[in-house]
This record gives sequence, structure tokens and C-alpha cells, in this order.
Amino acid sequence: MNRSTAQKLVGLIGHPVGHSISPQFQQAAFDASRLSVRYERWDTPDGELKRRVETLRGANYLGANVTVPHKQSVLELVDAVAEEVRLAGAANCIVHHAGRLVAHNTDVDGFRRALTEEMGAAAAGRPVAIIGAGGAARAVAVALDREGASEIVVLNRGLERARRLASEIGPLLRASLRAGPLDGDAARLISACGLIVNCTSVGLAGSADEGSSPLPAAALPPGAAVVDIVANPLVTPLLEAAARGGRPVLGGLAMLVHQGALSFELWTGLPAPLNVMLPAARAAMGLSDAEQPGAAKGSR
Ligand code: ATR
Repeated sequence: MNRSTAQKLVGLIGHPVGHSISPQFQQAAFDASRLSVRYERWDTPDGELKRRVETLRGANYLGANVTVPHKQSVLELVDAVAEEVRLAGAANCIVHHAGRLVAHNTDVDGFRRALTEEMGAAAAGRPVAIIGAGGAARAVAVALDREGASEIVVLNRGLERARRLASEIGPLLRASLRAGPLDGDAARLISACGLIVNCTSVGLAGSADEGSSPLPAAALPPGAAVVDIVANPLVTPLLEAAARGGRPVLGGLAMLVHQGALSFELWTGLPAPLNVMLPAARAAMGLSDAEQPGAAKGSR
């Protein structure tokens, strides 16, 4: 990206968008890279989505991030979709190239980068479990498949949704996918898994499930690594229980910042200044640098 051109715009398309910390850590990244770019919040109710996406074709727009509830509906409004979008069935990033709009899903590689940075090859050659069967679970399933998981067990409160996820993306992945209920049988179904990833919103601060865990501590296999994509609180009840049993744990902040870093790189063609983005994300959450990384005030 040419650093000397007039100010460019990029922003977050969703409804609501007020809770997101992306504007803070993305703006910090543009400023640190000395790029004349403003990252805005674009609150977009359903009826305004088409018009909002069309504005991105303007010469001064780099693109956008996309969040709830538009991650799927935006696919019909762009000109092309990246491979991850096809697999995950959703996009969280749009990149503008000379009037053309391309949708990407940086949650997939954002999760992979966070996982490998913090936990190495935790999924490679092993059975893994995903709790939840929504859009986040789909992106994580694609990521874990690319990380070489041998089998992916998807457990969800609504069993039909887990089955649908398995039947829709199972044939596209190398790993075998198995669906199960998130009930008393969960411990048995995940007993052989080396990695457990919570992709539900259970435990999220401010939600009805704040303070809860999607799995009882006794259901966690003794040696398994545990990841929670919920980013606020910093340490969810699930991670607390997992860590108490001596398991390696990873919270949602790393994935949140890495998906943002990949978006930054797609928009600008420049390496993202992670050393600036992570502290900015932590500051936006009201955390001091002394506190351990792990969570955010985002929707997750
Ligand atoms: P996202 O796009 O972020 O994945 P989503 O598509 O709304 O969000 O999916 C939310 C996930 O959290 C689902 O797997 C949901 O389970 P159901 O399909 O059974 O609704 C799960 N979830 C939300 N609240 C839950 C709760 N209290 N207990 C268990 N799972 C819950």
C-alpha cells in the first residue's frame, strides 16, 4: 500500500458493533505503520447491508471486517470468495481490489497462528474435540483439519446442528468428523482427545451464561490442552478448571488479535505489527500489561 496517498477507510460491518475492540487495535496498527487509514464502526442493520457493502467499491476503501449477523449473508454481495470461506461457509473480512470485493475468513488462519504460537503442534495427528456447532465452530474445524487433526469430534447442545456441520463440511476435510450431544455422554466421547476447543458462547461476560462452563471439569481428559475462543473474561470458568488440573490452556485474545492481524495484512500487503496490536487490544479491554493474555471485551 502506498503510504503517501490520501486517507483510506476500513471498518467493522455488523449489528451491533459498539462492543468490539477491533477499532482500537486496528487503528493502533495503522498508526504504528504510519499509514493514513481510519478504522470505523459501521453499525449495519440487515436492510442496509447491501448498500454498505457497495460503498466498499469506492476508491478510498480498503475493505472491511464483518461480524454478527452478516458473516454468511455478505457472501452473496461480493465478487469472489477465498478457499477458507467456501469451507467455513462464512467470511469475516472483505478486501477491495480496484472495484472488486473478495471475501476472506481470517478466523481460520488466525486460530491456527494463535494455536501454533502458544501450543505448537497440539492438534497434529491427534483426535480433537470442538464444543459448539455455529459459525465459529466451523472455522475452527477447518483450522484443526489444516493442523493435521486425525479426528474431529463435534459436540453441541442441539445435536441436529452438530450433525449438519459434520455432514456439510465432513466430506471436504481430511480428518474424520463425528457429531455428538453435549450431555452426560460428553466425557466418554472426548476421552481420547488431545485438544478441546470451546466454540460456544458459554462463559462470555455479560451473557446469560457468564460464570458457566460448557463442560464439567470431570469431563476434561487429564492430559488434554484446552482452548476457549471466548475472549472475555481473560480466564473463563472452563480454562480455570482445565488449568487447575495442570492442563495447558489458551484464551480467546490470541485468536482475536491474530485474525485482525491477518485482515490488516490482506488490506495493506504489509506485515501486521503484532507487538502493537496485542497491547492495544489489552488496553481496550481495560487490562494492565501485568495481567496475563487471554481475553477480550468482544462478542467472544
Ligand atoms: P458463532 O457464529 O459465534 O459460532 P452461533 O452460530 O450463534 O455463534 O453459535 C453459538 C454456539 O453456542 C452454538 O453451538 C450454541 O449451541 P446450540 O446450537 O445448541 O444453540 C452454543 N451455545 C450457546 N449457548 C449455549 C449454552 N447455554 N449451552 C450450550 N451451548 C450453547
